[in-house]
Amino acid sequence: MRVVNSVGEMQRVCREIRAGGRVLGFVPTMGALHEGHLSLVRRARTECDVVVASIFVNPLQFGPEEDFARYPRTFEADCGLLEAEGVEVLFAPAAAEMYREGSATTVTVAGVGDRLDGASRPGHFTGVATVVAKLFHVVAPNKAYFGQKDAAQLAVLRQMVRDLNFDVELVGCAIVRDPDGLALSSRNKYLSAGEREQALALHRCLLRIQESISRGELESAALVRGGMGVLGTADGVRVDYLVVVDANTLLPLERADAGGLVAVAAYVGKTRLIDNFLVG
Ligand code: PAJ
Repeated sequence: MRVVNSVGEMQRVCREIRAGGRVLGFVPTMGALHEGHLSLVRRARTECDVVVASIFVNPLQFGPEEDFARYPRTFEADCGLLEAEGVEVLFAPAAAEMYREGSATTVTVAGVGDRLDGASRPGHFTGVATVVAKLFHVVAPNKAYFGQKDAAQLAVLRQMVRDLNFDVELVGCAIVRDPDGLALSSRNKYLSAGEREQALALHRCLLRIQESISRGELESAALVRGGMGVLGTADGVRVDYLVVVDANTLLPLERADAGGLVAVAAYVGKTRLIDNFLVG
């Protein structure tokens, strides 16, 4: 696996790959890789000729009080995992390479970018959209792979790709979970053993709502009440949001019909976790 740190060299390498007529698949990450990230790489391997990944802990998407400084960084182990999965090129720029001194341009996705995590974490999705737009300009992939785990992120990026005419196909990939249901996340590393137990409440809450939907209860308010019943009685869990929204616009839905997204965000101790499922 070739590791590239500079924008210019990465652009040359990716241009050569595409010039050969090969389909280039791209998996952007912030590292601290787990099976969720690797599932994106595996999907890309089945659909593309060459898979390129990136590891960049993007300062622009972290708020001033958030965990940028202590975000887990496991670069050597990550390289081993990506190489074993057949990634051909890894882009791993320094912050000063991605954000040159004096850089002044950002990408803001109005509306959808201000909802869910965009509401709780002001500026977060501008950081995400800006870095992904820049990465797309560096790699120019044919297909790019993102996890449904970050459902709001996927909605924001789909809107950005449409609005800015990026010539890339976004592929959303299913959430990978631990056997007990906890959605994999790099931030799970922050949880103590006790907090990890408490964190299972997010999955239990979504399961409760899923059961209600399959029994025919589609009214969002009733579903949220049922889900809050699970979260509200869970020790150590502070709910940020539990919502039924349209999966594309992230606007509230009165009924959980197909195309709906049931999404939860909650703090377990100091760690903010998210989870969701698509209706239908
Ligand atoms: P990161 O949190 O490292 O996630 C990289 C990709 O892995 C995202 O598309 C995310 O949705 C996916 N992913 C994470 N956990 C997953 C799980 N349990 N199952 C399936 N997919 C999962 O998301 C980011 O980085 C950044 O915002 C990024 C897009 C790289 C821009 O900086």
